[in-house]
Amino acid sequence: MCGIVGYVGFRDAEPILLEGLRRLEYRGYDSAGLATLHGTRLHLRKRAGRIQDLTRHVRDRPAPGSIGISHTRWATHGPANDTNAHPHVGGNGLVAVVHNGVIENYAILRRQLEAEGVLFTSDTDTEVIAQLIARNLRTVSGDRDWGDLPCGDLIEAVSDTLDLLKGTYGLAVVSPHYPDVVIGARLGSPLVLGIGEGEHYLASDPGALVGLADKVVYLKDRQLCVLTRGEWHILDQERSRVQASIHEIEWEVADADKGVFEHYMLKEIYEQPEALENALRGRLSDEEASAHFGGLNLDTQALRRVERIILTACGTSYHAALVGEYLIEEFARIPVEVEYASEFRYRNPPIDRNTIVIAITQSGETADTLAALRESKRKGHPTLALCNVVGSTIARETDGGVYLHAGPEIGVASTKAFTNQVAVLTMLALHFGRMRHLSALQGAQMVRELRGVPDAVRQALHCHDSVRRVAERYGHANNFLYLGRQYHYPVALEGALKLKEISYIHAEGYPAAEMKHGPIALVDVDTPSVFLMPRGPIFDKVMSNLEEVKARGGPVIAVACEGDEEVAARADEVIYVPEVPEYLQPLVTVVPLQLLAYHIAVLRDCDVDKPRNLAKSVTVE
Ligand code: AGP
Repeated sequence: MCGIVGYVGFRDAEPILLEGLRRLEYRGYDSAGLATLHGTRLHLRKRAGRIQDLTRHVRDRPAPGSIGISHTRWATHGPANDTNAHPHVGGNGLVAVVHNGVIENYAILRRQLEAEGVLFTSDTDTEVIAQLIARNLRTVSGDRDWGDLPCGDLIEAVSDTLDLLKGTYGLAVVSPHYPDVVIGARLGSPLVLGIGEGEHYLASDPGALVGLADKVVYLKDRQLCVLTRGEWHILDQERSRVQASIHEIEWEVADADKGVFEHYMLKEIYEQPEALENALRGRLSDEEASAHFGGLNLDTQALRRVERIILTACGTSYHAALVGEYLIEEFARIPVEVEYASEFRYRNPPIDRNTIVIAITQSGETADTLAALRESKRKGHPTLALCNVVGSTIARETDGGVYLHAGPEIGVASTKAFTNQVAVLTMLALHFGRMRHLSALQGAQMVRELRGVPDAVRQALHCHDSVRRVAERYGHANNFLYLGRQYHYPVALEGALKLKEISYIHAEGYPAAEMKHGPIALVDVDTPSVFLMPRGPIFDKVMSNLEEVKARGGPVIAVACEGDEEVAARADEVIYVPEVPEYLQPLVTVVPLQLLAYHIAVLRDCDVDKPRNLAKSVTVE
């Protein structure tokens, strides 16, 4: 998704705008640009390609000034080229705009402006916003009293423009006629205001502000913000000033750097033990033999009345939800349905009265998941979110929830967020279970076992060398199968997704027993099958499935418990993980699959942290 950074202060804006964009690179983009104001002159620099292309451009043509806006574009309207890169200007430089989102009625607005003689230079919907603001600035009534706000006419021109737009936006606006002001506005696409000393920032997510501002304000839909060097104001839809709550950014600069790792993804795979410790911290109670959460905002009676749970999510978070289904049904005996958010938002299923809807999301900004939640709220159901980004839209719009505390996840391929989601779902299952059938003894045992998870994952990381060997042996394959049963069926899906999204190899995840209903026709000597087969109640069944594949000449890579000689004797390659209780096995068996995808992608020289066509947070439908 696109990235936005804005700055107004006493320092040169250009390096701050560029560094902020570098922090947002992981979101995926195909062009970048910036605009600064120096006195009443607008300096516009933009380039297709990477941020280093833009950096080289401004090295040759610096953009002076201590106020500006910048943007990384993920093309929606028009190809990735210099012209379509943001910022876009309106009125021959009267305003400059950067925008995240999609303006659905841009074509008709563009025709109206062209009929008025406006000449467009780009194919984008964003240029329509810039041209509208410029036109409105020329015709602004000027009869509204804006008090001591420093740019009432510009606010009015922006506000009148937003009233014409259909779709979503997170945008920032500057104008040489108001050389000390940055205006921001949001509807459906996140925008956060960073508070400094004599300087203020705007960004599409707090990750860009790490190390710059530790206090932030998350704009809400239909709010405007007005930033100058000494002040910031939030205006509501009626353009009246409103009070806003100030949040602290939890993350440190070190969190947003790769450190000794070659890629963010590898760093985040290795951060999992620490991230899990953060997820568990303060939530496991020996005394209560249970887990507890501070932010569910649903009282015990309300939770006790729950008769059905719907988990809704996308991608990797959907796979975590599938693990959650097994966990909650096993330990709390509450029926669970798992829904792809993109389907759930339109399917309109009959939902029983005592149903709660839980969204699972790393970013807290996924458009489909947000829409599914809003649909559930419209029907009057309590909603919760398991989310990694404090203050994100989904975190703020649900009735309550549980933060993942995984730290910033920069790599597009989700890893530590997945394991933290599964850990939180395990604690939720324990929490709900102890309100129903789980005894204190059972609860105490689960608390002890959960406390051991970070070390078990630390131990699972010891498989790294084996995985690298497997990657070298099978990394050339063009098709993979991932097979698991029960708790490992979702892990099979997750392993397949990891491989697909960063190495571009076709991979399918299946319940292992499902193979005989068709997919086994895919098995041949060039199609490795990854079997997830730690010891458990149906180990022998999975072993039979493995034999079926072997009998057809398919190479088998098995993930098994340390020292399992029986598996080693049958599989072509075995990757060992520590033995843990069955319900905790997804947390350790996913680790070799993450590493396998990583190493195959590196061997195939893929862009591991910014895979083609993908974005970290999908904030459009
Ligand atoms: C996972 O590796 C992918 N990047 C993607 O499937 C992701 O899980 C999905 O887009 C959901 O994102 P969210 O967790 O931020 O809602």
